[in-house]
Amino acid sequence: MTLLSLSPEYNAVQEGIIFPFFAENIHKAQRKSFADLSRAQTRAVKQAFKNTDIHQEGVFPIFSSDSTVYVYFLGKEKDYDSRSAREAGEKIFGLAKKFRLSSLSVSAGTLWKDASLKIAFFEGVALGTYEFNEYKGDKFVKSQEESGAKPVEKITLLSSENILLQERITVLSESVRLTKDIINTPPSIATPSFVEKIIKEKFAKIKNTKVSVVSQKELTKLGAGGILGVGQASDEESRFLIVEYKGGKKEAPLALVGKGVTYDTGGLSLKPAQYMLGMKQDLGGCATVMGAVFAAASLKIKKNIVVLTPLAENLVSRDAYKPDDVLTMMNGKTVEVINTDAEGRLLLADALTYTERTFSPRAIVDLATLTGACAYAVGNDFAAVLSTNKALTSSLVKASDKVGEPIWELPLHARYEKLLSSPIADLLNSASKLKAGTIEGGLFLKNFVTDKTPWCHMDIASVAFDDNERVATGRQVRLLIDWMENF
Ligand code: BES
Ligand code: ZN
Ligand code: ZN
Repeated sequence: MTLLSLSPEYNAVQEGIIFPFFAENIHKAQRKSFADLSRAQTRAVKQAFKNTDIHQEGVFPIFSSDSTVYVYFLGKEKDYDSRSAREAGEKIFGLAKKFRLSSLSVSAGTLWKDASLKIAFFEGVALGTYEFNEYKGDKFVKSQEESGAKPVEKITLLSSENILLQERITVLSESVRLTKDIINTPPSIATPSFVEKIIKEKFAKIKNTKVSVVSQKELTKLGAGGILGVGQASDEESRFLIVEYKGGKKEAPLALVGKGVTYDTGGLSLKPAQYMLGMKQDLGGCATVMGAVFAAASLKIKKNIVVLTPLAENLVSRDAYKPDDVLTMMNGKTVEVINTDAEGRLLLADALTYTERTFSPRAIVDLATLTGACAYAVGNDFAAVLSTNKALTSSLVKASDKVGEPIWELPLHARYEKLLSSPIADLLNSASKLKAGTIEGGLFLKNFVTDKTPWCHMDIASVAFDDNERVATGRQVRLLIDWMENF
């Protein structure tokens, strides 16, 4: 794994320095932009771009008597916000590999003017070092060695900022890494027991945290018919996995609940092949809230946090729950199952009931890869949020704006509620006639939180997984961190 550090000074022993610059005439730039370069390097860079105006993005290696400067043109300054700065930073790891640098420094170049841009850029550098090679064979490792590629061992961010920034950046990238690893791991490995094991390992050394489990047996006693129904076809036991972090005084905690369907085949309402592929992402809510609480505890934020994820596999077997079944949920409501693929809301419903009853939290935010409709409603840049509480929603929007992970509010439209009414039970688990599937999911869940508790549901089915690259994105972890710190 690449080692990241922060240093006020450039170390000439390193193989190169990445020098980001907004597209402009380098000669007109203020002197401070060159602060991280040696005299020889500055001279070489200025000489190379003499009389040129660069308008495009791209990387140009400039040799000097000191180590090579990789001038990284970013495009126009006016087009940059913290999100694009972060994305520019994320590309550095790939550049380091392309130029075969095993140790390098990264300057803030012309980004020094705006502290938030600079921090976002450095954050991007850290987040960009993620790779998931766990399941690549020996041949892959050999072919990398033979091609002369060296692993990128060390990246030094050049900044005189204090140690806190370094800690924050390291924690952020480690937390997002945890989230991505959980999602990327193949589903026959990342089963409920596996997730429990790695979360226990991961939190063992983190102060003021406690990991506990509500076993299938206990869930049976609690009458949690939703999660038990969904997990009924699996050889593994369904369970709630809980992480509590105590960083505050005696106040009630903030609660995060994350859907943890370790694989979603659809159950007996089986998904067609092209929609099943990628359903290892269905524990995305779980992975995201676990990453967030890992960050909260590592950064020692002064809040009490409880994270709960209902873990189950939605499989097919002779024991599977069936369309037409009626489940009695933990809060006593009955649900007629018309589609076993609308399973997320069933296990989340019990998780919400349990969370509210057990922890009386100040607020509950649940995250779930709940509906395929979500991407159709808001596209792949947004997650959808649905809430009964305006103040809670605006606090999430604020965090979202700040960290550049957009969310879009959809209404919990009361007129659609009747579409969830069943002829034989209190509710249907899915409304066949409602096209707004994401709203439907939210309206269903609303039945399982009382008016006492501010609650927000975030459908992350549109953002958790990149369908083209077929890897986890780690999105919304940073949003949750900011929200927990400031709510
Ligand atoms: N896990 C899926 C939703 C999903 C789809 C997540 C695509 C990520 C990407 C969920 O359990 C599901 O299958 N939802 C159904 C609900 C329907 C049966 C009411 C859907 O979206 O089709
Ligand atoms: Zn499903
Ligand atoms: Zn699902």
